Amino acid sequence: MKLLVTGGAGYVGSVCAARLLENGHEVTVVDDLSTGHADAVPPGSTFVQADIAEAAGDLLADGYDGVLHFAAKSLVGESMQDPHKYWQGNVLTSLRLLEAVREHGTPRLVFSSTAATYGEPDTVPIPETAPARPTNTYGATKLAIDHAISSYATAHGLGAVSLRYFNVAGAHGAFGERHTVETHLIPIVLQVALDQREQVQMYGDDWPTEDGTCVRDYIHVTDLADAHLLALDNARPGEHRIYNLGNGTGFSVQQVIETCRAVTGHPIPAAVAPRRAGDPATLVAASDRAREELSWKPKLADLSTIVRDAWDFTRARQQG
Ligand code: UFG
Repeated sequence: MKLLVTGGAGYVGSVCAARLLENGHEVTVVDDLSTGHADAVPPGSTFVQADIAEAAGDLLADGYDGVLHFAAKSLVGESMQDPHKYWQGNVLTSLRLLEAVREHGTPRLVFSSTAATYGEPDTVPIPETAPARPTNTYGATKLAIDHAISSYATAHGLGAVSLRYFNVAGAHGAFGERHTVETHLIPIVLQVALDQREQVQMYGDDWPTEDGTCVRDYIHVTDLADAHLLALDNARPGEHRIYNLGNGTGFSVQQVIETCRAVTGHPIPAAVAPRRAGDPATLVAASDRAREELSWKPKLADLSTIVRDAWDFTRARQQG
């Protein structure tokens, strides 16, 4: 397929673009490099550096089989302090993209949605039928886009799939996580292992979980990318389907740090810090729907494998 990948210079977008190329697809990446890196765009793709809202119409006029829409502002904390950046950057940009998709009759759209659309869950693991009550602006903007996509599917026959990511981690060879402002647990812990930080702060040890630290469902970025390929194949005209992507197993912050100690051989000092605003205690996915309807089978579910791949990527970058 001839595919447009928005945000293909970012973490998940670059890994997905790489997997699409490995599977024989033709890929154009569009990214404004506001948070991505030009050298993360996989070789073999065509790279257009542009504002997506501005460029989408001209690009899609060339005739594409589908769009994979990764480009987004994605820092939960920042979204609470600067909501305009999120409503404008996520919702308005996506509406402009949807209009371009409609205008040029692009048949398929795969969208990066998030577990943050659910907010504090009533039941764990969380199924797609759980109420969507986001507790932060980031999740609210992603949910708004999900609603817009549903309307476009119904009204204009778009075949769309939203994938609700839980905690994405790991790396796909040379493609991995390298945020300028790092807030995610595993990369932060690995910075401590590289002696770039003194210690990791554990945000709260009084949560209602087994060891008192927050529990998350970590998913390998390569497994996540492969779900996008399956979503493209399974998009049906006029339907908007939503799938959770996680492994269905929760690991606490302490367990993640322990795994990182085992993988890196570094003592990784950790200290308890106050809770972080907006953090739910436990987020674990029920991904049965993706397994059943997309035949998605995560192959790299083991947390040590996820950390090992992130560690190999981080060290390789450190060594230049
Ligand atoms: N944490 C720490 N110390 C840190 C960083 C994180 O204790 O230095 C804790 C957090 O409090 C949380 C867990 O580690 O309990 C995971 O935190 P991350 O920041 O790595 O990930 P989040 O669960 O907050 O968020 C991720 C994505 C969001 C997405 C969300 C949905 O980054 O974009 O999952 O589940 F919305």
